[in-house]
Amino acid sequence: MADRPVITSSELTPRSLYLRRREFVAGAVSAGLIGTMAPLASALAAPLQFVKSPLSTSEPPTPRKDVTTYNNFYEFGADKGDPAQNAHTLTTKPWTVKIDGLVGKPADYDLDDLIKDAALEERIYRMRCVEGWSMVIPWVGVPLADILKRVEPQGSAKYVAFETLVRPKEMPGQRGLFQPLPWPYVEGLRLDEAMHPLTILAVGLYGETLLNQNGAPIRLVVPWKYGFKSIKSIVRIRLTEEQPPVSWNLQNPREYGFYSNVNPKVDHPRWSQATERRIGESGLFVKRRETLMFNGYGDQVASLYAGMDLKANY
Ligand code: MTE
Repeated sequence: MADRPVITSSELTPRSLYLRRREFVAGAVSAGLIGTMAPLASALAAPLQFVKSPLSTSEPPTPRKDVTTYNNFYEFGADKGDPAQNAHTLTTKPWTVKIDGLVGKPADYDLDDLIKDAALEERIYRMRCVEGWSMVIPWVGVPLADILKRVEPQGSAKYVAFETLVRPKEMPGQRGLFQPLPWPYVEGLRLDEAMHPLTILAVGLYGETLLNQNGAPIRLVVPWKYGFKSIKSIVRIRLTEEQPPVSWNLQNPREYGFYSNVNPKVDHPRWSQATERRIGESGLFVKRRETLMFNGYGDQVASLYAGMDLKANY
């Protein structure tokens, strides 16, 4: 852990420059100087300002191409390549996140206001999918705790429930006859898991604004849990007293529980969780890696589950 240099202010893109760059791009588009969609899309993926976090792993990140083309986002299709193909149809601006339930300051927060004063950090995290593959992803985001503190959780709040957008017009996976999941996609954390310093709301990756297939404009990242806890394109965060329902548990309670902590000793009913394939590593002699308890974040998070039977609470 934690041997990354701190980024100096001269390495950051000054906000005025970044805003001017956006104006330039918009102006160039209306003047017809930028004619095709591809350069426009990449030009708008503006660099974000952030500091490097000491909570990053020093493992090499998975190539950007893999992170942005091998995805799970069932609202855009069930195949790994579907989100990168289809997610451009989602409009992510303006974007409102409703924060309600057991909080002192419930409101519909405009996303720009919500993160305006937040200090963005780059967090390079190992991510482990329940399907047996893993990646190392350089996220840019804010600790969820910072956002939750601002809305003042009430003493009775014990859980945080998250919800993704339902917009079949822009999400082909919500339209067809075959619906792999009930919508909206929902997830949840215990309040202490949500407040843990490793838990972030990501708005970028690889230094740029999140692409739609990765959950733009804002998604959860919980690195010690299987990837499906990291819910994408969040429109609602609700604090509750009762444990909230979660999508994969609703779909198949025998296979998916509420906690979903990475645990090499608890097999999925249909496959082992002892090893994983790191995406981007290919070739004849590449071996599967041993999966680590809590995805290698045990020193930081094991105490959250002291005394719990992790076989029963899977
Ligand atoms: N969030 C929503 N709304 N819909 C989804 O289908 N898939 C989950 C999670 N968040 C999913 C979601 C799963 S199964 C995984 S592994 C991760 O997103 C994948 O994130 P990535 O594509 O950015 O790697």
